[in-house]
Amino acid sequence: MAIERIIDAGMQEDDADEQIVEITLRPQSFDEYIGQERLKKNLKLAIAAAKKREEPMDHVLLYGPPGLGKTTMASVIAHEMGTGLRVTSGPAIERAGDLASILTNLKDGDILFIDEIHRLSRAVEEVLYSAMEDFKLDIVIGKGPAARSIRLDLPRFTVIGATTRTGSLAAPLRDRFGHVYRLEFYTPGEIAQIIIRAAGILESKIDKASAELLSSRARLTPRIANRLLKRVRDYADVNGDGIIDTVMTTSALSMMEVDELGLDPADRNMLTSIVETYGDNPVGLTTIAALTGDEATTIEDYYEPYLMQIGFIERTPRGRRVTLKAKNHLNK
Ligand SMILES: Nc1ncnc2c1ncn2[C@@H]1O[C@H](COP(=O)(O)OP(=O)(O)OP(=O)(O)O)[C@@H](O)[C@H]1O
Ligand SMILES: [Mg+2]
Repeated sequence: MAIERIIDAGMQEDDADEQIVEITLRPQSFDEYIGQERLKKNLKLAIAAAKKREEPMDHVLLYGPPGLGKTTMASVIAHEMGTGLRVTSGPAIERAGDLASILTNLKDGDILFIDEIHRLSRAVEEVLYSAMEDFKLDIVIGKGPAARSIRLDLPRFTVIGATTRTGSLAAPLRDRFGHVYRLEFYTPGEIAQIIIRAAGILESKIDKASAELLSSRARLTPRIANRLLKRVRDYADVNGDGIIDTVMTTSALSMMEVDELGLDPADRNMLTSIVETYGDNPVGLTTIAALTGDEATTIEDYYEPYLMQIGFIERTPRGRRVTLKAKNHLNK
């Protein structure tokens, strides 16, 4: 992404502080994990049942837009199960051998978290299938006519896969997950609770009205809520006595150019360019990407989910269309 956007739901890896704060703000148990009630209810039951049977729980696939708490939920599950957690990602497992070494090093009951699981290569996926299904590892030794395949027993483990796009997941892989859950956007009330909890951890004073004001601009996404809170906290430290009130919050937000709905100049620019160039006609994803200069996947993962959630963009069979509601917001 060319410009670093404050309301970007993705992780911004360039500042180390962000990482540390992510870790300290990350809920560890179901009690600390706010919202996603349906998901929590189902997982609590599955965990209780697995514990009672003294078996690892069934594989879990979590999908949904960035920053909604998929990685966090994986660590909460490991914490609640009282098991080890091994973290990796689709692009990090380059060859089947990489996966084989990860799998053979797991302990019985361990959780293997695979982030961006849609980016696994076909060859690696093949190995994962039998590992997930029978806890067996098929490996080929030698080359050519002398090659033979052997089966190794693996520990019984649980895969938790995370992806922002289920559409890109091969059906045979998807079918191997006993639990498939979509993470939903949070309600403004839940986001306000997340902000108040995070402010407590960061030892920042914030009043309820300011938490609510921030929550209305955080795109219903915990990662953005935490980031906005940090920026406003910096602003209040520099321009006041560190207390976050509505005056501080309002001026910090306007400095960041984040509007009442959490849109930033990049969103407004995208919507405006579509309307000005194409009016009411549906536009394809690649055309939108060309208009804004972003990757199509960036539009799909970072701009669109929230804009669709608030009814600013609708998907039609012929492309995306900017709605009347959006045009009113932009005064078009
Ligand atoms: N339910 C929650 N309650 C409180 N804080 C949360 C919750 N979910 C997420 N967070 C906060 O938001 C941050 C981002 O969450 P997380 O990294 O789990 O998102 P993700 O869905 O894995 O995103 P990505 O798709 O980019 O990997 C966490 O570090 C945590 O501080
Ligand atoms: Mg994640």
